[in-house]
Amino acid sequence: MIVLETENVIKQFRQYDTVITAVNRVSMRVEEGEFVAITGESGSGKSTLINLCAGLDMPNSGKIRVLSRDIVAMDKDEMCRFRGKHIGFVFQSHKLVPYLTALENIMLPISASGEELFKYEERLSLLIDRLALGDRLHHLPGELSGGQQQRVAIARALIHYPMLLLADEPTGNLDRANADNVLDLLLGLRRELRQTLVIVTHDDRIAAQADRVYHMDNGNLSIRHHLA
Ligand SMILES: Nc1ncnc2c1ncn2[C@@H]1O[C@H](COP(=O)(O)OP(=O)(O)OP(=O)(O)O)[C@@H](O)[C@H]1O
Ligand SMILES: [Mg+2]
Repeated sequence: MIVLETENVIKQFRQYDTVITAVNRVSMRVEEGEFVAITGESGSGKSTLINLCAGLDMPNSGKIRVLSRDIVAMDKDEMCRFRGKHIGFVFQSHKLVPYLTALENIMLPISASGEELFKYEERLSLLIDRLALGDRLHHLPGELSGGQQQRVAIARALIHYPMLLLADEPTGNLDRANADNVLDLLLGLRRELRQTLVIVTHDDRIAAQADRVYHMDNGNLSIRHHLA
């Protein structure tokens, strides 16, 4: 089953009188259970592409399908509901809600969709355990370290068993030990639950674990055959 498919996606930004093509005719396909990594220099368009795949932004042209649904055609409410059900997203800058505790942030996808929290207890304890967040659950994001905030954001992205996890530099702020824990968690989920993963990363140790590595260069996506 194809989980994510893009076809000739173009995204341009206008800055004063210049146009930046952040994503240039990108076509890619991710099958169920695959782990795809995207590398590339700063400014090459990685965040723009992954945001488009999550329906957080609209392309100028091209097609994006998640679980065979055309997400470009969805209106905002529909996209929110669809994302809440099927997509987990880890932002490059975590984007935790500052006045909610770590636990409340993690449970946000569930409380926002009006579901009963207790149904997710088992999942919650697994994520808390693997991400070593047990003693930080009742703190506000401002009282957590950057790495802890990032781990809370990862737990929030995974709490609702999304079919597709999109993560933008999920280990960017973590030291080596915590980056390894996050990678182990993701690889474990993929093994046990066939979690489909698309991860933007600068870390070649993470890219080395992927089934496929794409490289972005100036908006263009190509397959990377060898890791440097
Ligand atoms: N909202 C925006 N308005 C204008 N230009 C933008 C916007 N978002 C991104 N860009 C531009 O698009 C290009 C790609 O940016 P993007 O954030 O996708 O890069 P990136 O590969 O994620 O970089 P990094 O590794 O630093 O996170 C850059 O030139 C950036 O300045
Ligand atoms: Mg980025």
